[in-house]
Amino acid sequence: MIENKPEKLYNERMEFRVFFLREKDAPDIKSVPGNACRARPGTETTEALIMYAIGSDHAGYDMRMLIKDYLEKLGEEVLDMGTFDRERSNYPEIAESVASLVAAGKADAAVLICGTGIGMSIAANKVKGVRAACVSDPFSARMSKEHNDANVLCFGARVVGSEVAKMIVREWHDAEFLGGRHRMRLDMIEDIEGRN
Ligand code: RB5
Repeated sequence: MIENKPEKLYNERMEFRVFFLREKDAPDIKSVPGNACRARPGTETTEALIMYAIGSDHAGYDMRMLIKDYLEKLGEEVLDMGTFDRERSNYPEIAESVASLVAAGKADAAVLICGTGIGMSIAANKVKGVRAACVSDPFSARMSKEHNDANVLCFGARVVGSEVAKMIVREWHDAEFLGGRHRMRLDMIEDIEGRN
């Protein structure tokens, strides 16, 4: 259960996001379409939100719009972290803003899209507690959840087409971590984090 009220969550998320927005965007932050962190209709204010964060650089901009819409059609809440135009942008900034939301428990899962998915996954994996998987096929997407409990999904808008991208997202969305021996291996990964 989340103790914070939605307004507080909203503010925290927005403040967090403003931090990573370019200055020229900041004054308009509340008017950016799809920007709001919404409570599920009919839910009490204390109910936990299932929240996907999503981000892309310029190379993934159009794909992000498509996937955001797709996740919403699957019934998920989506917090859009930009980039908000097609001008050249830097994927590490977006990756950090999105991955940090997941690491802080402010988003339950995230999707990051750049040209290849590689830069996003490398950057996201620098955030402690993040397990970002860069995939280009639905099978790997499912395995990344079942075996690796990936909490961030990355792929490349220049690598996969829109229909494969939706299949990737659907497989990852529907899959569940299997635990057991896989949990023990994730603990070993955490140990690596602790040692380095
Ligand atoms: C941008 O040109 C490109 O380098 C970026 O989208 C990504 O593919 C990096 O990994």
